Amino acid sequence: MPTVLRAAVIGLGSMGANHARVLSDTPGVELAGVADPDPERVQKAVGGRPVAGFAGVAELLAETRPDFVSIVVPTGLHESVALQAIEAGAHVLVEKPIAATLDAAARLARAAEKRGVILTVGHIERFNPAIRELKARLDAGQGGRVIQVRARRVGPFPHRIRDVGVIHDLAPHDIDIMRYLLAADVERVFAEARRHINTANEDLFAGSLRFAGGAMGLLDINWLTPMKERSLTVLCEKGMFVADYAAQSLVFYENYAAAAREGAIASVTEGPMTRYPIANREPLRVELEAFRDAILAGGPAPVSAADGMAALAIAEALVQSSREDRPIAVAPILAEA
Ligand SMILES: NC(=O)c1ccc[n+]([C@@H]2O[C@H](COP(=O)([O-])OP(=O)(O)OC[C@H]3O[C@@H](n4cnc5c(N)ncnc54)[C@H](O)[C@@H]3O)[C@@H](O)[C@H]2O)c1
Repeated sequence: MPTVLRAAVIGLGSMGANHARVLSDTPGVELAGVADPDPERVQKAVGGRPVAGFAGVAELLAETRPDFVSIVVPTGLHESVALQAIEAGAHVLVEKPIAATLDAAARLARAAEKRGVILTVGHIERFNPAIRELKARLDAGQGGRVIQVRARRVGPFPHRIRDVGVIHDLAPHDIDIMRYLLAADVERVFAEARRHINTANEDLFAGSLRFAGGAMGLLDINWLTPMKERSLTVLCEKGMFVADYAAQSLVFYENYAAAAREGAIASVTEGPMTRYPIANREPLRVELEAFRDAILAGGPAPVSAADGMAALAIAEALVQSSREDRPIAVAPILAEA
């Protein structure tokens, strides 16, 4: 394995331009090429640097022979573009959600395994310093048993997203973080969803998740709010953590009554509030560095294809629940993939 890895970015829209920017100055990485059918986006991403620009995926792969590729095309194209990169022998980071359907995701995972390349999914919030701090504190037992996790991810309508609704586009972030923090699987979901702005898919959604072990997850996610909020609350027996993904902040509200008692929750009273110092870093930079290091180490993927598929299966169950107006068991959906 070379010490400097050759990277490529395919898809240079609002997220792909960030991958190209970060990879162009990541130590141990050389941004060898970028591709997008839009020549202006290619020109902007190249930005006067010695980076080869292409309109097509096949030319990029043939001419730059990258060690790894970020796939940042619309979700409906993840499978076809990622398969080309895998077949060319490149390690692949595919943006979230892993693919448009579970079948497509399973085909991708099988192809990567067969070709012997690492397939990882851009569940970027795992690399958010506030979430890393929260995970370390939960794993150390600071909060005791987790009772409920609540995520709010709201903001204005993104007119560029045409192929999926808000459940597939945004919910996988928080579904993945909840599974990661709780280290537990989702057994059952229920969702309410609505369409307001002219689109084929839902733009307002509320969902509940039942985790193995008993914790409850709540998702409040929409594209109809005239301000951006990305927050996560983890209610535990010994207190409550509140994380702001965007501000990268983490606060703990202690349950004073629990401080004196171990075991089952006996009482709740307001205790001291602590705000932890967090060294802010761009999550995408941390994510891409983790992928570089995983390639150099020969694996494993920082976020596995199985984790990407689980987040997608849960998103699909939420869509199904909202359409059929009933709770949906998740395990059978994953078993079919
Ligand atoms: N991790 C995150 O926080 C995050 C944030 C935004 C988007 N995303 C994901 O990134 C992906 C792209 O989203 P976006 O918001 O950047 O979309 P976008 O529409 O802004 O950009 C998509 C780009 O892909 C290009 N493209 C289309 N077909 C192509 C092809 N065959 N080859 C090369 N380029 C092609 C388009 O020309 C466009 O420039 C989606 O899967 C989305 O879910 C992730």
